[in-house]
Amino acid sequence: MQYILGLDLGTTGNRAILFDAEGAIAGQAYKELTQYYPQPGYLEHDPEEIWQDTYTCIQQVFKQTGISASAIAAIGLSVQRETCLLWDKTTGKPLHKAIVWQDRRTASMCRQLQAKGQAKIIQARTGLIVDAYFSATKFAWLLDWVRNQNINLDNILAGTIDTWILWKLTGGKVHATDRSNASRTMLMNLAEGKWDSQLLDLFQIPDRIMPQIQPSLGIFGETDPQLFGTPIPIAAVFGDQQAALFAHGCDRPGMVKCTYGTGCFLIAHTGEELTRSHHQLLSTVAWTQVLANGKTVTSYALEAAMFTTGACIQWLRDGLKLIDSAAETEYLARQVTDNNGVYFVPALSGLGAPRWDMGARGAFMGITGGVQREHMVRAVLEAIAYQVKEAIEAMNRDSSKAIEVLKVDGGACQNDFLMQFQADALGIPIERPVVLEATAQGAAFGAGLAIGYWTDYQKLCRSRKIDRIFEPGTGAIQAQENFDTWLKAVHRAQHWVD
Ligand code: G3P
Repeated sequence: MQYILGLDLGTTGNRAILFDAEGAIAGQAYKELTQYYPQPGYLEHDPEEIWQDTYTCIQQVFKQTGISASAIAAIGLSVQRETCLLWDKTTGKPLHKAIVWQDRRTASMCRQLQAKGQAKIIQARTGLIVDAYFSATKFAWLLDWVRNQNINLDNILAGTIDTWILWKLTGGKVHATDRSNASRTMLMNLAEGKWDSQLLDLFQIPDRIMPQIQPSLGIFGETDPQLFGTPIPIAAVFGDQQAALFAHGCDRPGMVKCTYGTGCFLIAHTGEELTRSHHQLLSTVAWTQVLANGKTVTSYALEAAMFTTGACIQWLRDGLKLIDSAAETEYLARQVTDNNGVYFVPALSGLGAPRWDMGARGAFMGITGGVQREHMVRAVLEAIAYQVKEAIEAMNRDSSKAIEVLKVDGGACQNDFLMQFQADALGIPIERPVVLEATAQGAAFGAGLAIGYWTDYQKLCRSRKIDRIFEPGTGAIQAQENFDTWLKAVHRAQHWVD
């Protein structure tokens, strides 16, 4: 019996999941990742910890299931996107902690680019809106830091998390990325699928330090035999949101999913033609594959990236200490019949789509003396749903056909209150699968298909079972009426630190 190993290296934690030939989960391991906040608006990860946790999770899943490395037909890798680092190729040591996608330290650099009229050019070339979210300004910041330390650039490699882990898994042999991850750096020419030399010049990034861009599905290399006792092929690499899109079977124009992870990521597949948004959505690569006839095909997507979802629940737990666990939010929200006039603005890392406001900051509004913890927790869950509603409205305006059903995944989808409120706020059904780990599943599907372990993508996607469909219910009128008040709260929290 052979298995496929799916890796989901996310913002809040790293996960390894084994899938069997039926596409069912045979075992999994997870480790939460330390978040470093050196200054307000900054967020860093320790790349060594990401690697160590990845390795430990893989070993743990082997140990728990009794399945050995020799039974693994391939690995599929999916990662948090945009987060990036530099490392020394001789020592293998990172030169600085990785700068996480939520980090806002380069907001002023982005504003300067906007002021110089570069935003339009960058958007035309990359499909992205100039924002501190993407890797380009983070790489520029890291390189500046390196130059100030007088470190020789000749020995440096650059990469997003997929590139770093690929390099570690292959024992330093492979320095590569896939097109879905590269499309998030703000350095890849979206139409050509190559590093854009003008943008590399603009950000003063030497192209020799950048990884090679490869199709998402296909062999990237083999794991170093010393790691697991035997080499395992790494046969797919995706950005995590694109991996989830792949798992949902969203491979045609009009098919949409939303992942409720650290942030919320609403993505619509747009086919093989690069589509541009008129409503502040991102154009991005869905994935690239090489067909049996040797033709390389890239499919594209439109994306609304919202920065704070699981992150605000984690903040309720670790920052405010208002809850002990994420699951408690559902219980608390149900203890009250409404939000008692409280609205939350989930701008803990600024606001992404469709507002793109790096200077917005989180806020609770409408607080009066009768407000209890339950109302505040409920307001946070409602805000998650409202921000998805705003993004869906932008997506609907970009398309000739309105979204009729929303496929969801990610940890926060376990929350029945949130899912019901989402259906109420949107007025459309929400379809929740049994396996919420669509990211690891998509990476595994990609790897399995790339090596011929599976041959029928559609069949594989159909084998995914639906757990529950949430239909809009009796709360729909109220939820939709309150949306305007939430928009007012968001408006007030905008441009707070400009
Ligand atoms: O763009 C950021 C995204 O890839 C992060 O995903 O799963 O860590 O919320 P996640």
